[in-house]
Amino acid sequence: MSSPKALIDNNKSWAQRQSEANPAFFKDLAAGQAPEYLWIGCSDSRVPATEICGVHAGDMFVHRNVANVVANTDLNLLSVLQYAVEVLGVKHVIVCGHYGCGGVKAAMSNDKHGMIDNWLRNIKDVCAQHTEELDGIADVAARTDRMCEINVAAQVANVCHTSIVQGAWESGQPLTVHGWIFGLNDGLLKDLDLSVDNVEQLPELYRLR
Ligand code: CO
Repeated sequence: MSSPKALIDNNKSWAQRQSEANPAFFKDLAAGQAPEYLWIGCSDSRVPATEICGVHAGDMFVHRNVANVVANTDLNLLSVLQYAVEVLGVKHVIVCGHYGCGGVKAAMSNDKHGMIDNWLRNIKDVCAQHTEELDGIADVAARTDRMCEINVAAQVANVCHTSIVQGAWESGQPLTVHGWIFGLNDGLLKDLDLSVDNVEQLPELYRLR
Protein backbone atom coordinates (compact mmCIF):
# COMPACT_ATOMS: atom_id res chain seq x y z
CA MET A 1 0.00 0.00 0.00
CA SER A 2 2.08 2.90 -1.24
CA SER A 3 -0.16 5.39 -2.99
CA PRO A 4 -3.62 6.91 -2.59
CA LYS A 5 -4.35 5.66 -6.11
CA ALA A 6 -4.08 2.11 -4.76
CA LEU A 7 -6.86 2.91 -2.30
CA ILE A 8 -9.20 3.98 -5.10
CA ASP A 9 -8.36 0.80 -7.00
CA ASN A 10 -8.99 -1.31 -3.88
CA ASN A 11 -12.30 0.44 -3.43
CA LYS A 12 -13.37 -0.45 -6.96
CA SER A 13 -12.71 -4.14 -6.32
CA TRP A 14 -14.43 -3.96 -2.93
CA ALA A 15 -17.57 -2.41 -4.46
CA GLN A 16 -17.58 -5.05 -7.15
CA ARG A 17 -17.26 -7.89 -4.60
CA GLN A 18 -20.14 -6.49 -2.52
CA SER A 19 -22.41 -6.26 -5.57
CA GLU A 20 -21.52 -9.77 -6.67
CA ALA A 21 -22.26 -11.20 -3.21
CA ASN A 22 -25.49 -9.23 -2.90
CA PRO A 23 -26.83 -7.34 -5.93
CA ALA A 24 -29.07 -5.21 -3.65
CA PHE A 25 -26.20 -4.23 -1.31
CA PHE A 26 -25.76 -0.62 -2.42
CA LYS A 27 -29.47 -0.06 -3.00
CA ASP A 28 -30.03 -1.08 0.64
CA LEU A 29 -27.05 0.98 1.83
CA ALA A 30 -28.35 4.10 0.11
CA ALA A 31 -31.83 3.59 1.56
CA GLY A 32 -30.64 4.27 5.13
CA GLN A 33 -28.81 2.95 8.15
CA ALA A 34 -30.09 1.06 11.19
CA PRO A 35 -26.96 -0.02 13.08
CA GLU A 36 -27.44 -1.72 16.46
CA TYR A 37 -23.99 -0.74 17.72
CA LEU A 38 -22.15 2.44 18.54
CA TRP A 39 -18.40 1.87 18.80
CA ILE A 40 -16.26 4.31 20.76
CA GLY A 41 -12.65 3.33 20.18
CA CYS A 42 -9.09 4.56 19.74
CA SER A 43 -7.98 6.21 16.50
CA ASP A 44 -5.03 3.78 16.38
CA SER A 45 -4.77 2.38 12.83
CA ARG A 46 -4.35 -1.13 14.24
CA VAL A 47 -7.83 -1.24 15.74
CA PRO A 48 -10.27 -1.00 12.79
CA ALA A 49 -13.67 -1.36 14.46
CA THR A 50 -15.78 -3.02 11.77
CA GLU A 51 -12.95 -5.22 10.49
CA ILE A 52 -12.07 -6.79 13.87
CA CYS A 53 -15.76 -7.36 14.65
CA GLY A 54 -16.47 -8.94 11.28
CA VAL A 55 -19.38 -6.63 10.50
CA HIS A 56 -20.27 -4.82 7.31
CA ALA A 57 -21.02 -1.30 6.15
CA GLY A 58 -24.25 -0.24 7.85
CA ASP A 59 -23.78 -2.43 10.94
CA MET A 60 -21.87 -0.10 13.25
CA PHE A 61 -21.86 3.64 14.02
CA VAL A 62 -18.29 4.59 14.87
CA HIS A 63 -16.54 7.30 16.86
CA ARG A 64 -12.79 7.15 17.35
CA ASN A 65 -10.39 9.50 19.08
CA VAL A 66 -6.98 9.29 20.76
CA ALA A 67 -7.25 6.72 23.58
CA ASN A 68 -11.06 6.31 23.39
CA VAL A 69 -11.80 9.16 25.75
CA VAL A 70 -15.37 10.12 26.64
CA ALA A 71 -15.19 13.73 27.81
CA ASN A 72 -18.46 15.31 28.87
CA THR A 73 -17.41 18.59 27.23
CA ASP A 74 -16.63 17.00 23.85
CA LEU A 75 -19.36 18.22 21.49
CA ASN A 76 -18.15 15.84 18.79
CA LEU A 77 -18.56 12.73 20.95
CA LEU A 78 -21.81 13.96 22.54
CA SER A 79 -23.29 14.64 19.09
CA VAL A 80 -22.34 11.14 17.90
CA LEU A 81 -23.79 9.61 21.08
CA GLN A 82 -27.01 11.59 20.88
CA TYR A 83 -27.58 10.76 17.22
CA ALA A 84 -26.76 7.08 17.75
CA VAL A 85 -29.02 6.69 20.79
CA GLU A 86 -31.92 9.02 20.02
CA VAL A 87 -32.20 8.82 16.24
CA LEU A 88 -30.64 5.50 15.23
CA GLY A 89 -31.76 3.77 18.43
CA VAL A 90 -28.63 1.67 18.85
CA LYS A 91 -28.99 -1.10 21.42
CA HIS A 92 -25.34 -1.28 22.46
CA VAL A 93 -22.61 1.26 23.07
CA ILE A 94 -19.20 -0.43 23.05
CA VAL A 95 -16.27 1.45 24.56
CA CYS A 96 -13.21 -0.39 23.30
CA GLY A 97 -9.66 0.30 24.36
CA HIS A 98 -6.58 -1.62 23.34
CA TYR A 99 -3.48 -2.87 25.10
CA GLY A 100 -0.30 -0.92 24.37
CA CYS A 101 -2.28 2.27 23.70
CA GLY A 102 0.13 5.12 22.90
CA GLY A 103 -2.28 7.71 24.28
CA VAL A 104 -2.49 5.93 27.63
CA LYS A 105 1.29 5.49 27.69
CA ALA A 106 1.78 9.21 27.01
CA ALA A 107 -0.70 10.14 29.74
CA MET A 108 1.23 8.01 32.25
CA SER A 109 4.53 9.68 31.46
CA ASN A 110 5.95 13.09 32.38
CA ASP A 111 7.01 13.83 28.81
CA LYS A 112 5.70 16.93 27.05
CA HIS A 113 3.80 16.22 23.81
CA GLY A 114 2.31 19.64 23.09
CA MET A 115 -1.37 20.42 22.58
CA ILE A 116 -2.40 16.79 22.97
CA ASP A 117 -1.34 16.89 26.64
CA ASN A 118 -4.57 18.80 27.27
CA TRP A 119 -6.56 15.91 25.80
CA LEU A 120 -4.50 13.31 27.67
CA ARG A 121 -5.26 15.13 30.93
CA ASN A 122 -8.58 13.25 30.85
CA ILE A 123 -6.60 10.02 31.24
CA LYS A 124 -3.98 11.45 33.59
CA ASP A 125 -6.78 12.37 36.01
CA VAL A 126 -7.97 8.74 35.93
CA CYS A 127 -4.38 7.52 36.50
CA ALA A 128 -4.16 9.78 39.53
CA GLN A 129 -7.12 7.97 41.11
CA HIS A 130 -5.41 4.58 40.72
CA THR A 131 -1.78 5.30 41.67
CA GLU A 132 -1.77 2.76 44.49
CA GLU A 133 -2.75 -0.15 42.24
CA LEU A 134 -0.58 1.02 39.32
CA ASP A 135 2.52 1.63 41.45
CA GLY A 136 2.21 -1.97 42.66
CA ILE A 137 2.82 -3.30 39.13
CA ALA A 138 6.60 -3.43 38.57
CA ASP A 139 6.59 -4.33 34.86
CA VAL A 140 6.10 -1.18 32.77
CA ALA A 141 4.20 -2.88 29.92
CA ALA A 142 1.91 -4.67 32.40
CA ARG A 143 1.30 -1.38 34.23
CA THR A 144 0.37 0.35 30.98
CA ASP A 145 -1.92 -2.50 30.00
CA ARG A 146 -3.70 -2.37 33.36
CA MET A 147 -4.16 1.37 32.89
CA CYS A 148 -5.63 0.68 29.43
CA GLU A 149 -8.28 -1.45 31.19
CA ILE A 150 -8.86 1.16 33.90
CA ASN A 151 -9.28 3.80 31.19
CA VAL A 152 -12.00 1.71 29.51
CA ALA A 153 -13.83 1.41 32.85
CA ALA A 154 -13.62 5.18 33.40
CA GLN A 155 -14.94 5.93 29.90
CA VAL A 156 -17.79 3.41 30.26
CA ALA A 157 -18.79 5.30 33.42
CA ASN A 158 -18.55 8.61 31.53
CA VAL A 159 -20.90 7.31 28.83
CA CYS A 160 -23.38 6.19 31.49
CA HIS A 161 -23.24 9.52 33.31
CA THR A 162 -24.43 11.47 30.24
CA SER A 163 -27.97 12.82 30.15
CA ILE A 164 -28.27 11.08 26.75
CA VAL A 165 -27.84 7.52 28.04
CA GLN A 166 -29.82 8.16 31.21
CA GLY A 167 -32.60 9.73 29.15
CA ALA A 168 -32.81 6.56 27.04
CA TRP A 169 -33.05 4.40 30.15
CA GLU A 170 -35.69 6.68 31.65
CA SER A 171 -37.85 6.33 28.54
CA GLY A 172 -37.54 2.54 28.66
CA GLN A 173 -35.24 2.21 25.63
CA PRO A 174 -33.09 -0.92 25.95
CA LEU A 175 -29.46 0.22 25.91
CA THR A 176 -26.38 -1.54 27.25
CA VAL A 177 -22.97 0.10 27.60
CA HIS A 178 -20.05 -2.34 27.32
CA GLY A 179 -16.33 -2.11 28.11
CA TRP A 180 -14.02 -4.14 25.87
CA ILE A 181 -10.33 -4.24 25.16
CA PHE A 182 -8.43 -5.37 22.06
CA GLY A 183 -5.13 -7.23 22.09
CA LEU A 184 -2.71 -6.13 19.38
CA ASN A 185 -0.66 -9.28 20.04
CA ASP A 186 -3.42 -11.81 19.38
CA GLY A 187 -6.14 -9.82 17.61
CA LEU A 188 -8.68 -10.79 20.23
CA LEU A 189 -11.39 -8.72 21.88
CA LYS A 190 -11.93 -9.21 25.60
CA ASP A 191 -15.14 -8.27 27.40
CA LEU A 192 -14.07 -6.59 30.65
CA ASP A 193 -17.44 -7.39 32.25
CA LEU A 194 -18.29 -3.75 32.87
CA SER A 195 -21.71 -3.79 31.21
CA VAL A 196 -24.29 -1.30 32.47
CA ASP A 197 -27.92 -1.32 31.33
CA ASN A 198 -29.80 0.66 33.97
CA VAL A 199 -29.48 3.67 36.24
CA GLU A 200 -29.49 1.57 39.42
CA GLN A 201 -25.97 0.40 38.56
CA LEU A 202 -24.65 3.96 38.84
CA PRO A 203 -23.41 5.66 42.00
CA GLU A 204 -26.24 7.71 43.55
CA LEU A 205 -24.53 11.04 42.86
CA TYR A 206 -24.54 10.51 39.08
CA ARG A 207 -28.18 9.46 38.73
CA LEU A 208 -30.30 12.05 36.90
CA ARG A 209 -34.01 12.13 37.68
CO1 CO B 1 -4.65 3.82 21.38
